[in-house]
Amino acid sequence: MVKFANRIQPCDNGLNDIFTYANDPALISFAAGYPNNHLFPQAELKSAFASSLTDSTSLQYSGAAGLKSLRAKIAQHISSPRRTFTAAEILLTQGAQQGLDLTAKLLLDPGDGVVVEAPTYLGALSAFDAYQPTYYEVPLQDDGMDLNVLQKTLMTHHVKFIYTIPDFQNPTGSTLSLPKRQALLRLAQRYDVIILEDSPYRDLRFSGESLPSLASLDTTDHVISLGSFSKILSPGLRLGWLVTTPELLVPLTELKLGNDVQSSTLVMSAIDQYLDQHDLSDHIAKMNQAYAAKMATMLNALDHYLPAAVNFTRPRGGFFIYLTLPADIDTGELLKQVILPQAKVAYVPSASLFPVSHQANGLRLNFTNLDTATIELGVKRLGQILTRVLAQPKYAKL
Ligand SMILES: Cc1ncc(COP(=O)(O)O)c(C=O)c1O
Repeated sequence: MVKFANRIQPCDNGLNDIFTYANDPALISFAAGYPNNHLFPQAELKSAFASSLTDSTSLQYSGAAGLKSLRAKIAQHISSPRRTFTAAEILLTQGAQQGLDLTAKLLLDPGDGVVVEAPTYLGALSAFDAYQPTYYEVPLQDDGMDLNVLQKTLMTHHVKFIYTIPDFQNPTGSTLSLPKRQALLRLAQRYDVIILEDSPYRDLRFSGESLPSLASLDTTDHVISLGSFSKILSPGLRLGWLVTTPELLVPLTELKLGNDVQSSTLVMSAIDQYLDQHDLSDHIAKMNQAYAAKMATMLNALDHYLPAAVNFTRPRGGFFIYLTLPADIDTGELLKQVILPQAKVAYVPSASLFPVSHQANGLRLNFTNLDTATIELGVKRLGQILTRVLAQPKYAKL
């Protein structure tokens, strides 16, 4: 039997049960975080790839930092009157996911402290776990991290970086308010801690005004900021970006070189062509309109079908709504024993989204890759079962 490295933990994040039912045509899955297949600009990307392939350089190596013309376009996309970014501040990555791995690889020795929002993105924990950090959870409020808890943590523990998803957080959909963004940056400066800002949902705002990114507010070089084409163009392209200061960008680029040499020249060049030929903001506006309607359907259905003991978030964008059940319910057990077999609905249970406390009474729902009728039907089934379950005291011990 092969002996894995000590740092490799057995994988039991509660998602395996979903795969048992994945081929059941009756299953309605709110579990994955996929963009909608019908919204990919497929014809436009096809022609962008075709025109890239007319030039043989798109099939050649092109350097670890990524195509400069594409970095310049990304710099323009993320710039605002408050702060102008340049291509020199950007490293192109294999999705935002690679930015998580590179940052952890650069900063963490085994046992080093990492602050995470509770709950947080499971994929980030998977990336960080490989470097064996000590996690500190900071609870999330409607307007982002509880900064009092954060400050106490920073006062009492040595923390290497604070991981935050400030816009339409995964899994809760919550957004960090502007005063808290400013206060978070002050804390990072006072305790000299890096903020890892992970913001793949940033452009997917359905209502209200966009808030400045942490990177654009940072005046003391304490932010590494991640973005991605996955949710605004296509995750199959596997292209994201990392923005930071030269002090960090140079070693991060070296690490990228050691990981995978560079991102795909063909993909970078096709995205560059696409952005030359099309207005990305028009495409994003179209997506936001479609996703806003799906989220409204889900929120209405949750209002209508859920029992009163279940609370849920009301995001203003992004991909997810988060439900909180009474404290003694384990949504992982509930999924396996009741919801999957009887309601044929899937969600992501919360225990694995809390790396320390493993709080089990939450669940994440995604609304982007289903049509509105299916969303309504799935929530109805979920709501009916939850109403029944919560009325029966025996399930409280699940
Ligand atoms: C918060 C967050 N960060 C990063 C990622 C990874 O995205 P990418 O496809 O850009 O690697 C995801 C994907 O779901 C995410 O939700």
